[in-house]
Amino acid sequence: MQKKILLLGSGELGKEFVIAAQRIGQTVIAVDSYENAPAMQVAHGFEVINMLDGSELDRIVAKHQPDFIVPEIEAIRTERFYDYEKQGITVVPSAKAANFTMNRKAIRDLAAKELGLKTANYRYATTAEELRKAVGEVGIPCVVKPLMSSSGKGQSTIKSESDIEKAWNYAVKDSRGDVVEVIVEAFVKFNSEITLLTVTQNGNPTLFCPPIGHRQERGDYQESWQPALVSDKDLFEAQDMAEKVTEALGGAGLFGVEFFLADDGVYFSELSPRPHDTGMVTLAGTQNFNEFELHLRAILSLPIFEIKLEKTGASAVILALENSQNPTFSGIDKIAGLPKTDFRIFGKPTSRPYRRMGVALASDTLETPVAEVVERAKSAAKTVTVNP
Ligand SMILES: Nc1ncnc2c1ncn2[C@@H]1O[C@H](COP(=O)(O)OP(=O)(O)O)[C@@H](O)[C@H]1O
Ligand SMILES: [Mg+2]
Repeated sequence: MQKKILLLGSGELGKEFVIAAQRIGQTVIAVDSYENAPAMQVAHGFEVINMLDGSELDRIVAKHQPDFIVPEIEAIRTERFYDYEKQGITVVPSAKAANFTMNRKAIRDLAAKELGLKTANYRYATTAEELRKAVGEVGIPCVVKPLMSSSGKGQSTIKSESDIEKAWNYAVKDSRGDVVEVIVEAFVKFNSEITLLTVTQNGNPTLFCPPIGHRQERGDYQESWQPALVSDKDLFEAQDMAEKVTEALGGAGLFGVEFFLADDGVYFSELSPRPHDTGMVTLAGTQNFNEFELHLRAILSLPIFEIKLEKTGASAVILALENSQNPTFSGIDKIAGLPKTDFRIFGKPTSRPYRRMGVALASDTLETPVAEVVERAKSAAKTVTVNP
């Protein structure tokens, strides 16, 4: 069962996926918009293309004739995926899943309107005037996001009417792709947020990983931990929503389903139809299979007998502070010497402020309070600095 996988997007998540695939003898061609991207460093071959260009995508699909197309990012001309599916290629988890999550509108309308999941009240706007009206309808405070964006790009919170113009201009400036439209969502006063890694399988039941907690800053995750403390009632509700939305999107693979936990219950936020950055905590050995191994097994239709929590774990990101070519790292000897700690350096060829360059991983027995493990991961991450 040696299969050929075309990986679209070659960041750190892709890299761990390739390593998992290599370990069981699969062939991977890694694709991104720049050379020497992390996943390319461990793949059999690579391509450098603009993945938003449909004809470029067509060209490399025809050239490599993959069995599977595995998207790692959202910024891809995903409309082409339906054709590849018709050609007999398996798009992971499905063309629909990748296409619906490329744009916040499709996935939100599916979740809220079609499936009736509880989400923050929301509206769309294509001009500053429409945004003003939409803000009037959802109320202040509210959050504005470009429809095509990720990692918090172009996202801002409106705290008073005087922020509306600013929020519009900021969102437009950072809009990705060819759509200039925003979603405005009522601000959810959540107590915590979680990622529920959900694995859909071919011919076997959907499985859930123990919930992962995380903290976001500037739209990017800073620390994640597993297991997150969630009441049975909230967990059951989140699992039910995750099952519904992943079933509607179809296909087999691992999804990162994001939820807000508030006093008035669980809110569906968004999802990635692929491994999630907060799920890097599973690299600390928290589960019998990490999220990349689970994604791979589900894709290859290898049965997953169970997902078992084995340790308490936490991850904390290692960020660059400056722009540089060929950045180096200090403190690797320090982090390496810490007990029950591990780390990854992604091998990104350039750095810029806040770019994620590595991750610190801490773990301990299941009896250890998770907050303690988070603190260890945070201080471990601080021992490493990225030099320009
Ligand atoms: N409606 C909201 N209310 C409160 N916080 C929000 C809301 N929407 C987003 N956030 C915060 O911003 C983060 C990023 O938003 P998200 O929709 O997940 O965008 P991205 O695709 O960039 O990850 C969330 O994890 C959460 O912390
Ligand atoms: Mg998110």
